[in-house]
Amino acid sequence: MALADTPASPASLDAFWMPFTPNRKFKQSPRLIVGSEGLYYDLADGRRVLDAIAGLWCVNAGHRHPRISAAMKAQIDVLDYASSFQIGHPAAFVLAQRLAEMAPAGMNHVFFTNSGSESVDTALKIALAYHRARGDAARYRLIGRERAYHGVGFGGISVGGIGRQRSTFGPLLNGVDHLPHTLDLARNAFSRGEPAHGIEKADALEALLALHDPSTVAAVIVEPVAGSTGVLPPPRGYLRRLREICDKHGILLIFDEVITGFGRLGTNFAADLFGVTPDLITTAKGLTNGAVPMGAVLMRDEVHDAFMQGSVSGIELSHGYTYSGHPLACAAAMATLDAYTQDGLIAQSAATAPYFEECLHTLRGLPGVIDVRNVGLLAGIELQPWAEGAGTHAQAVAQHCVDQGGVLVRSVGDTIALSPPFTLERRHVDQIVDSLRAAIAQTARPTDAAA
Ligand SMILES: Cc1ncc(COP(=O)(O)O)c(C=O)c1O
Repeated sequence: MALADTPASPASLDAFWMPFTPNRKFKQSPRLIVGSEGLYYDLADGRRVLDAIAGLWCVNAGHRHPRISAAMKAQIDVLDYASSFQIGHPAAFVLAQRLAEMAPAGMNHVFFTNSGSESVDTALKIALAYHRARGDAARYRLIGRERAYHGVGFGGISVGGIGRQRSTFGPLLNGVDHLPHTLDLARNAFSRGEPAHGIEKADALEALLALHDPSTVAAVIVEPVAGSTGVLPPPRGYLRRLREICDKHGILLIFDEVITGFGRLGTNFAADLFGVTPDLITTAKGLTNGAVPMGAVLMRDEVHDAFMQGSVSGIELSHGYTYSGHPLACAAAMATLDAYTQDGLIAQSAATAPYFEECLHTLRGLPGVIDVRNVGLLAGIELQPWAEGAGTHAQAVAQHCVDQGGVLVRSVGDTIALSPPFTLERRHVDQIVDSLRAAIAQTARPTDAAA
C-alpha cells in the first residue's frame, strides 16, 4: 500500500507542523493529495485537478514521468547511498558534466546541494570564499533585492527581500543591503515579457556601491524573474546593466534560477533568454522534476579555478552536505534532463508560451485584475487587494479555481501565480484561463474596478 493511501488521522494532522502554512486553519478542513499523473493531481475526496503550478514550480516534465520513475527504481536497486566526501560514485560526475553542457558557455563546474535554500547559501559562501582565495578578503558584503525570495537559510533570508520572513529571526548576516524591486504597475502593467520601463532600477546598484565602497562588496544576487513574490520579469536591459556594473567593480553576479532554470522560460536557463551570463547560477526544483530533493550551483571556470591553488592535499572549500550528489537524486536528474532535452520538453515549453501569453492577457478588463505579466511558462495575475487584508482576494480566486474549475493555482500575496508543466497543451491552457475567468468574475466585489 502506498503511504498516500493511509488516511490522515486527527493526531497525525496535529503532528506535522506544515511549512509556510496557516496550520490551524488548514487542519480544520485539510486538502490532501493522494496521487498524481501527468498534469493532474488526485485529491483525497476523489477529485482530479489540473496542476497549473507544477507542484511548487518544480514538476516541469509532468507528474510521475515514466522516464524519471524508471531511472529512480533502477538506481535504488544498485546503489542506495554513497558519500561524496573524499570518495565518490560515477553518476555525480556524469551529472555534473551534463549540467555543464547545458549551462551557459564557460560554466563548467557544479557543486551539489539538496534544495534551493542550500544552493543559495552555497553560492553566497563560494562568492565570499572566492574573493578570499584571491587575496581580497575585504569583500564581505552581499547585495540582494527587495521582493526577492532566496529560500529560508540564514544566507537566503538575509539577501532575501520579504520583510515578514526576516523580521522574526534576529540580526541575520552582517553587511547585506538590497536593491529596489522592479515592479512598476504605473508604467508597466500588462506587459508581455520584459517590461519596457525600469532599467534605471539597476543603477541603484551604483548608489549602493557608493554608499558601501565597491571594494567591500563580494556579490550581487537576483532572481532573473522574481517568482515567489508575484512573478516579476526584469525590465528590458536591467540584467545586462547589473552585469556591467558588477564587472566594473569586480563583483560576482549570482542568478538564482531555482524557478527559472531548466526550461521554464523556454531556454535552458534565464541567463540564455536574457543573454546575460552570471558568475554563479543556483538551481534546484526542476533539476529532478521535484521527484527527489536536489540542488546544484553552477559556476564559471574562473570562480572554480581560484580555489584550485595551494597544496593538493588541502580541502579547497570547507562546505558540503551528507547528501551532496545523492545517487537517487543523480538518477532522477539525469532522466529529467533527458526528458527536457532529448524528449524536447524545453522546446515544448517555448512553443506553448505564446498561446499561454495570448490567453492570459484576455483576463485584462475583468473586475479587480490590475496586472497580467508573463515570460515563458511563468505568469502572474495581480488582483486589487481587498479591504479585509493582503492576499485575501487572490486566496478567494485560487480557492474558487480548485473547487469549481478543477485547477490548482497558487496565490502569492494578491497575485495568482502560474507555472504549469511543460507538457500542457492548448486545451489545458484554455481550462486554466476559463477557470480563472470564472473565479475572478464570481468572487468579484463591487469595489473591484476593471483596469
Ligand atoms: C528563487 C528561489 N530560490 C530559492 C528557493 C528555495 O528553494 P527550496 O524551497 O528548495 O529551499 C526558492 C523556492 O521557491 C526559489 O523560488
